[in-house]
Amino acid sequence: MDPILNPYNPGAGSRPSYLAGRDGILTKANILFKRVKAGRAQRSIMLYGLRGVGKTVLLNRLNTMATEDDYIVEQIEMSENDKFDVKMTNHIRKILLQISLFENAKDKLKKAFRVLKSLSLTIPDGPEISIDIDAIAGEADSGNFETDLIDMFVHIGNAAKEEGKSVCILIDETQYLKESDMAALIASCHKVSQLELPLVVICAGLPSIAAMAGDAKSYSERLFEFIPVSNLVSPEVELAISQPAKDLGVEFTDKAILEAITITQGYPYFIQELGKHTWNQAAKSPISVDDVVAAKTETLNELDDSFFKVRFDRAINREKKLMGAMAELGDGPYSMSDVAAKMKVRPTSASPTRATLIRKGFIYAPSHGQIDFTVPLFADFLRRAKITGAIEED
Ligand SMILES: Nc1ncnc2c1ncn2[C@@H]1O[C@H](COP(=O)(O)OP(=O)(O)OP(=O)(O)O)[C@@H](O)[C@H]1O
Ligand SMILES: [Mg+2]
Repeated sequence: MDPILNPYNPGAGSRPSYLAGRDGILTKANILFKRVKAGRAQRSIMLYGLRGVGKTVLLNRLNTMATEDDYIVEQIEMSENDKFDVKMTNHIRKILLQISLFENAKDKLKKAFRVLKSLSLTIPDGPEISIDIDAIAGEADSGNFETDLIDMFVHIGNAAKEEGKSVCILIDETQYLKESDMAALIASCHKVSQLELPLVVICAGLPSIAAMAGDAKSYSERLFEFIPVSNLVSPEVELAISQPAKDLGVEFTDKAILEAITITQGYPYFIQELGKHTWNQAAKSPISVDDVVAAKTETLNELDDSFFKVRFDRAINREKKLMGAMAELGDGPYSMSDVAAKMKVRPTSASPTRATLIRKGFIYAPSHGQIDFTVPLFADFLRRAKITGAIEED
């Protein structure tokens, strides 16, 4: 089939031609946006799931929905070494600038800018906020990020309300927040929700964010609904495979779809990658099971060279060794003591590496004493790449 017309889109955050199986989440988000805009209290959303299940795609979609609903939207993507206070302050500046576009700056907006100035001055190595306005004493200048962010959120909410606007902040890769930053964020959301101000924060991240939020503030469950983003199941998984082609007049045989489900296990990223290669492989419609099987090897090669490898290369040898030991044990979840035994070390000496792997987002703890990969089918990849618990440390 013509590769130029190929409708499959593997890639981080790449919009799929057909967004399968997420209607329930989109409906919830729609209600959330409408309620917040109307000044009604509503629990916000935290989306959590493994690598490649479609969290960023969903956040991008929510960004579009909120924008269409006339929200001022800022999307923040955290990475491992980012400082949340610095990033947040920069985005708050953008939000206030957007609010200022609507009207001649009114009192509450001016005040919000002054509070932002105070906040920026308290952050060590913080952003230079060059606004020609004086900082305000006693607001967001305590140097305690939690107290200051609460102040700041209230002022943003008031300024937005004064202009008849609503604000939506989307945060991706939330697992990279420090616990104190998570606590500050949740406490700030709590305050604006109590005051019924038109500001909503939606987060997405690896499965660890649910526990992180609970540890940071015990009341986080009252503020956020934790929604898992999972691999696709029937009947939506069939549509994820077949619909992009169907839109271009190309069918899949039932057997071909079943084979594609078996190979991808319903993981959205793998569906896009397999779809892409199958499309390029097939000579005519309907796409047959042989076309899918023929595309499998190339799909795996491409996943190995891109999806898996870029992630794997971020690990140092000590971390690769621990993950190699996990893969040797089969598929997860794994008990930490089994992993340590495979590495021929005591569990206590493996725990610093376990901690850095969690911090870097390679693994997470599905339950006490257990670990698993955040990347679907990562154990298979490590076995294909012959990475074991016996590789040399740095
Ligand atoms: N609901 C869906 N239906 C079909 N394809 C999807 C769906 N969601 C995501 N995809 C595809 O899956 C791939 C990965 O999506 P995305 O980057 O949003 O995942 P992610 O969860 O953010 O991953 P990571 O944790 O690595 O950032 C993209 O190629 C996208 O097109
Ligand atoms: Mg993502």
